[in-house]
Amino acid sequence: MSLLIGWLIWLFLDGILARTQLDPSVLEDSKLDTFELIQKYNYPAEKHNVDTDDGYIITIHRIPMLGAIPVLLMHGLFDASTTWVMQGPTKGLGYLLHDRGYDVWMGNIRGNTYGRKHKFLKQHQPEFWDYSFHEIGIFDIPNTIDYVLNNTGYSQLQYIGHSQGTTSFFVMGSERPDYMSKIISMHAMAPVAFFEHTKSPVIKFLGEAQTSSIIMNKFFGTHEFLPRSELTNTFSKFICASDLTQPICSNMIFLTTGFNSDQLNLTMLPVFIAHAPAGASTKQVMHFGQVRALGGLRKFDYGLVQNLQRYKTVTPPEYNLRNVRAKVSLYYGQNDWLAQPEDVKLLLNKLPNVIYDYLSDYQKFNHLDFVWGIDSWDLIWERIFNNMQVHDLSIRYGSWNK
Ligand SMILES: *[C@@H]1O[C@H](CO)[C@@H](O)[C@H](O)[C@H]1NC(C)=O
Ligand SMILES: *[C@@H]1O[C@H](CO)[C@@H](O)[C@H](O)[C@H]1NC(C)=O
Repeated sequence: MSLLIGWLIWLFLDGILARTQLDPSVLEDSKLDTFELIQKYNYPAEKHNVDTDDGYIITIHRIPMLGAIPVLLMHGLFDASTTWVMQGPTKGLGYLLHDRGYDVWMGNIRGNTYGRKHKFLKQHQPEFWDYSFHEIGIFDIPNTIDYVLNNTGYSQLQYIGHSQGTTSFFVMGSERPDYMSKIISMHAMAPVAFFEHTKSPVIKFLGEAQTSSIIMNKFFGTHEFLPRSELTNTFSKFICASDLTQPICSNMIFLTTGFNSDQLNLTMLPVFIAHAPAGASTKQVMHFGQVRALGGLRKFDYGLVQNLQRYKTVTPPEYNLRNVRAKVSLYYGQNDWLAQPEDVKLLLNKLPNVIYDYLSDYQKFNHLDFVWGIDSWDLIWERIFNNMQVHDLSIRYGSWNK
């Protein structure tokens, strides 16, 4: 019965969508994947498969510049490599870094659009989804770094992360500190490690929900978090494409990240929505709720009995941020509900090697503006380019000796 109703709604929405006027180029881009988008915008494109130590096969993307210094970009939660190229050459960090002479590698993670393969497991098996940002930090990112270095002949690379792309980097630094010597410099946009001051109702809810095992079991078994279906796809496309309903769509996004309609290009909404959310596990989302509930960046909370077995402690141990010895630059915004300046300050005090600390003076800058914002280039990326160059010199002239 519900299937029938769902199907009728789908037909209805699809009919309306077909009549909605859309920018044809925007519509086309909403159907292209990362590789095809790079090709469309006339940049060289490559895709590579990274095998993780625990069996996932993740496709990563490259805008190659042979012999140039490699830079690895890591997207945030629910996002994918598409985020760096979907707004075209003037608004995509991937293209801009290539224009500045970098060999650009754009990572992906298990469970997103480009990380749905595994040597033995299939997507319908709960075991496939049994991971959080912990496993992304100890497998996906270090395995990707090894792949890039092995393929380029460099011994170090530049790293730019957004949101979870910073959280998992800190996990890697804590758990696999030998990887810190493979980083020329790390640039953290909207870094996430503490939610003491978060303004996001979604994160607050997730934090509260931790205390209710009924809610947790019902919504957070081991599986994909809100999988996309034909229905939700059509629904979100419809909501986000029509002028009348666009405010609903953008408000759903803002509710998580912070309100600011100035920096979100509404014309691009159908493209954003087509590529994100790109997939995540419930355990991964739950682990972010635990950051809020337990206070600080700790290993996954399995409950008393399992915690004692795994960690020999009642509460999960904190990640050792003192091990994150790479040179770190922090970029964050006041209107970012997920990475509040007070929380970034807590992080800053724990990291041993922060060399640059920048709170955007543009008051309304929110969580997504770092990658999708109309003025991200002027407001943030230009600073990243300048900071990267300073450290590139050390590797170009061989004076790197740490
Ligand atoms: C490094 O690259 C070589 C040749 O491309 C390949 O045979 C080898 O397995 C790679 N090693 C790792 C660790 O990826
Ligand atoms: C918004 O996106 C459209 C389509 O890509 C583009 O033509 C327009 O210039 C963008 N607007 C701004 C303010 O960047």
